[in-house]
Amino acid sequence: MTSRVSVHLRSRRILLGITAGIAAYKVAGLARLLVSAGAEVQVVMTPSAGEFIGAMTLQAITGRPVREAIFDAQHEAAMGHIELARWAELVLVAPASADFLARLCAGMADTLLHTLCLATDAPIAVAPAMNVRMWANPASRANMKVLGERGVMIWGPASGEQACGEQGPGRMLEPEALLEKVRQVFASGRFAGRRVVLTAGPTREPVDAVRFVGNRSSGKMGYAIGEALLREGADVTLVSGPVALPVPAGARVVSVETALEMHRATLAEVADADLFVACAAVADYRPVSTASQKIKKDADTLTLELVRNPDILRDVAAMPERPFCVGFAAETERLEAYAEAKRRAKGVDMIAANQVGRQQGFEADENALLVLWEGGRTRLPQQAKTRLAEQLISLIAERMDAQTTTQDT
Ligand code: CTP
Repeated sequence: MTSRVSVHLRSRRILLGITAGIAAYKVAGLARLLVSAGAEVQVVMTPSAGEFIGAMTLQAITGRPVREAIFDAQHEAAMGHIELARWAELVLVAPASADFLARLCAGMADTLLHTLCLATDAPIAVAPAMNVRMWANPASRANMKVLGERGVMIWGPASGEQACGEQGPGRMLEPEALLEKVRQVFASGRFAGRRVVLTAGPTREPVDAVRFVGNRSSGKMGYAIGEALLREGADVTLVSGPVALPVPAGARVVSVETALEMHRATLAEVADADLFVACAAVADYRPVSTASQKIKKDADTLTLELVRNPDILRDVAAMPERPFCVGFAAETERLEAYAEAKRRAKGVDMIAANQVGRQQGFEADENALLVLWEGGRTRLPQQAKTRLAEQLISLIAERMDAQTTTQDT
């Protein structure tokens, strides 16, 4: 199992405030890091910050027009300042000048950025950057104390040589260090810092230009597991067959149709994953050949020759540096015996078995599971797939932690 502990920022909404200071030129790098980590970044500059960095640069990096003016009819119509304050999940002001911090402390609302800081419920973080003597000044000391007591997160400053030639604390933290702090803010939940790849839904195996061999999987169980994992802070990639379900907020979805596509996409995604959950109802066979045109009904009988598809779960479980692997087993009889045999045959850490047929399993909103792992088992009773997903991921977390502990000792 990999030991990566980075937290994804996919779809996290970060309001990046920039105030006047020489360190502002470094913020383009920070904005780029945040965007690369998946965050949505809205830059808000104070009026004189533009002396140090161009709004066009930041707009190009973030893909959003930079906000600056407090009264701006054009932008207020699109997203008013109160909406913007509500939109943010984190306000990060970098660099935060002595003047900005003093005004923040006083609760002033004379710039858009100050107004947003007053109006938002989101956590506020500041990365001070100023001359060493300004930082040491009792006025700054008092302001920082008040801001700290109000719950404003104060990141830095770092010590070192300053642009003015002096030495000491006052340098803005480097963009990489600020990115790490942002990740820590969002690191919560049992799966925080864990990357998960999930397969979900059915696959379609084309017969000709318009027909396919498919199955009735709705994808509901896989999507419910994805949602539950996201709520617990996981970085989720869903490799999904065709389903009629909304994309869970924050998940990355790789859409596929056939088993071969799902196999390829999963193996490409799973390399640095901590957990792989195979929920997809992968077609075991595909037509040997696919007619490029629609097959005409010339003959009385039509024989389809099928060939085995690769087993995605088995192949992931056989990888040398493999993630914790969870599979599903759909059985119509001898649930436990068949599921346990499947778990061993595929070499997976855990298998969740469900009884299918008679209105159970596919397409239903409810399900029940018998979960098996090496040396243990538990029954999760019939209930909504969303609840079931929560219980299942909690079991998975327990087993993953237990495995890590055993590996460490
Ligand atoms: N699976 C997979 N790739 C396949 C087939 C199955 O990843 N080509 C995964 C499924 O996502 C599921 C588990 O393996 O997690 C199911 O195993 P499977 O052998 O297909 O079990 P059943 O569907 O129950 O089929 P059967 O009992 O007919 O073998």
